[in-house]
Amino acid sequence: MSVIRVDSSEKAGFDKAIEELREYFSGISKSKGRPATYNLLTYGCQLNESDSEKLAGMLQSMGLQKIEGSGELAPADVVVMNTCSVRENADKHLFGNLGVFKSFCSKGETSIIAVCGCMMKVPENVEKIKRSYPYVNLVFDPQQLHRFPLLLRDAVSMHKRSVSICGEDYIAEDSYFPIERERKFRALVPIMYGCNNFCTYCIVPYARGRERSRDLSEIVEELNRLADQGYKEVMLLGQNVNSYKGANGERFPAVLEAAAKIKGFNRIRFMSSHPKDISTEIVDMVAENPNIETHLHLPLQSGSDRILKLMNRPYNREDYLKTAHYFREKVPNGAISTDIIVGFPGETEEDFLGTLEVVKECAFDSAFTFQYSKRPGTKAASMEDQIPHDVVTDRFGRLLDLQNDLAYKSNLAKVGKTEEILIEGQSSTAPDILTGRTMSNHLVNFTIPDALKDPGKTSDDYEGMLCDVKFTNARPYSVDGEMVRLK
Ligand code: 5AD
Ligand code: SF4
Repeated sequence: MSVIRVDSSEKAGFDKAIEELREYFSGISKSKGRPATYNLLTYGCQLNESDSEKLAGMLQSMGLQKIEGSGELAPADVVVMNTCSVRENADKHLFGNLGVFKSFCSKGETSIIAVCGCMMKVPENVEKIKRSYPYVNLVFDPQQLHRFPLLLRDAVSMHKRSVSICGEDYIAEDSYFPIERERKFRALVPIMYGCNNFCTYCIVPYARGRERSRDLSEIVEELNRLADQGYKEVMLLGQNVNSYKGANGERFPAVLEAAAKIKGFNRIRFMSSHPKDISTEIVDMVAENPNIETHLHLPLQSGSDRILKLMNRPYNREDYLKTAHYFREKVPNGAISTDIIVGFPGETEEDFLGTLEVVKECAFDSAFTFQYSKRPGTKAASMEDQIPHDVVTDRFGRLLDLQNDLAYKSNLAKVGKTEEILIEGQSSTAPDILTGRTMSNHLVNFTIPDALKDPGKTSDDYEGMLCDVKFTNARPYSVDGEMVRLK
């Protein structure tokens, strides 16, 4: 598979397709007597969210308006589903949702359906759409995001369904796209795409192709622009950020250092890191730079060396623990989160107890826990000794009990302290409660005392502001507190 850099010579065709679609949708607006609309449904990880910000930017450039409640199962003239193949039951979600959108199509409420994202790199899914979902107009894979306007224009103008799955790994710089950012304070900045690791359970290397990195100078330019626009938080994204390799051999610490130097960012986050190549240099940078988040997301997957080998994860329990202890020593008020898979083929009770031991020793502040699930096309899918469902659920429950207890303890350790919070907005639980995160990524729900209340401000006005909060109470997944100072 080759990697192709998309350069500006293709931009004229991209702009032309957007222009033609603008005209097309303006015709739809006129005939309906209201603006033409889109609904964008996004599943999966932050890289998919970042792709969706580009999809939204392109859709808006075509003159489409986002519907109220975008992301829900609601009709719009154009529906785009950006799928994920890592999430449990992703296929059931997609095909169930397509069934709902069929009814919107037959009522004339939706005229175009496009499906993209990692699931479209699994041939069975594409075949199923071709066979059983004739009303889907466009199918394309994540590698071809930069071709979305051209593919959509061709599908629309030829009144023909278009299925475009490519064998190439393209990389287009962010500056190629109009980007409609989801949050006004947080910018998602992918620095590399794809993965070369081929963990035996994982579909990502097949779905997202080989590793390819953006140019450091382009990344720095984008970061400077974002800082000028007032973004307070930047998330440097990659399936494995530590594999970043710039055109002149620059490695990830150079990206992190460049980001940390830019004035204006209060929070620089990065994810995910692979335990095999996280270095003490990165941990030292977290400890030394006050604007790099004091949080490390370091997927463990299993605490058994035997299972890690079967997973093709080239590190062992000792290496992992060494990194975790180094981080705890250097970043005493920091947090470590992880991903863990339970019930990988061949996992014995002893292997699982090994995972529990590592979890206990690392005292993870939070964890994403997964029950192993077979992904067609991966090596583990054909391994013998798949673990019975009841054994997996039993182990999963035990892991969850332990991890919930650790997360609660991590939140409890915050009570009585005062820390800076980046406000994300109104809490979903109550209108007078705001929600935000600490530098260590702890989720905090807090009130504003009357003395600090500004009657001219709504909860939305606080989004993206910084404040100090005193923590008063711990919950299993969050901390409660009260604002002591707005910054
Ligand atoms: N089964 C269960 N969990 C998986 N993950 C990836 N593939 C699978 C699978 N086949 C989990 C890993 C990864 C996270 C994003 O999803 O823990 O780190
Ligand atoms: Fe998947 Fe492993 Fe690559 Fe992560 S490092 S995306 S788990 S193959």
